[in-house]
Amino acid sequence: MFYIILMLIVLAIICIPLIFWFPPCKKIDSLSKLHIVITGGSSGIGKALAMEAVKRQADVSLLARNKTKLENARKEVEEYKILENQEINTFCADVTDYNQLSNVLSEVGSVDILINCAGMAKAELFEDNLSTYKQLMDLNYFGSVNATFSLLPKMKAKRFGHIVFVSSMAGQLGIFGYAGYSASKFALRGLAETLLMEVRPYGIGVSVAFPPDTETPGFKEENKDKVIYETTGILFDIASVQEIFLLCLLFVARRNSVSQCLCWSFFTLDCR
Ligand SMILES: NC(=O)c1ccc[n+]([C@@H]2O[C@H](COP(=O)([O-])OP(=O)(O)OC[C@H]3O[C@@H](n4cnc5c(N)ncnc54)[C@H](OP(=O)(O)O)[C@@H]3O)[C@@H](O)[C@H]2O)c1
Repeated sequence: MFYIILMLIVLAIICIPLIFWFPPCKKIDSLSKLHIVITGGSSGIGKALAMEAVKRQADVSLLARNKTKLENARKEVEEYKILENQEINTFCADVTDYNQLSNVLSEVGSVDILINCAGMAKAELFEDNLSTYKQLMDLNYFGSVNATFSLLPKMKAKRFGHIVFVSSMAGQLGIFGYAGYSASKFALRGLAETLLMEVRPYGIGVSVAFPPDTETPGFKEENKDKVIYETTGILFDIASVQEIFLLCLLFVARRNSVSQCLCWSFFTLDCR
């Protein structure tokens, strides 16, 4: 009995300071007046996320390369404003160019949530095109690393923030014809799980969303030359962009582990 009590005392002496050193992340109950930066915010999933966030009274900054598309998206997103003083801004940059991106992001001010959504898919067989591997890794993986690298110091300084990586179902399991794409999306999961260990002491959470096929301009483009599509059949039901918001919103509930949200059309299968 004496030894058990002694062990408990020793455990308490070790654990109590750790709790203060690594405080649990503060739960985000509301997006109201939080500032959300969305890369790839001018189209598809990124734009839909912006609309849903604005409906929840967040300030939103959209980032992408094409100025005209950004301006059109800004006007569409603005329609959903709830408060007069809600801000919707646009920033023009290529996420694959770290210097350009970090210069632009230095102008965005304080950031609460970063959603790394800029990305693309290409369906090709392994031997089709060596350059595709680099192209997809540069955009889907390094684009997310670049944006996170640029904004993390601001979040650490205020000891609050959340980073979302938009992966794909192809980031959970290999899908025929998606060697380059799958690899770039698997990489995000490894990045997120490791990053959380470093940033959690600063009150910063990390999530990864794994959307299924979703009706977007990017998906339409992907399907144009998807020969494999005909031979393998459609694996998943196609989701609407609105359903995908659920994936990225679920992070709000759990911030002490990387929340991984896998959505199969209407159903959220896994969120831990
Ligand atoms: N749709 C799906 O079925 C599906 C499924 C699973 C995962 N996802 C993932 O979800 C994300 C969004 O996909 P989506 O279908 O919504 O695509 P989308 O409609 O093509 O939108 C892509 C967005 O990313 C921006 N973008 C592309 N390259 C960029 C770059 N180098 N720098 C900055 N911005 C860039 C685009 O604007 P600019 O071209 O003007 O830069 C656009 O705003 C991607 O990461 C994709 O892999 C999509």
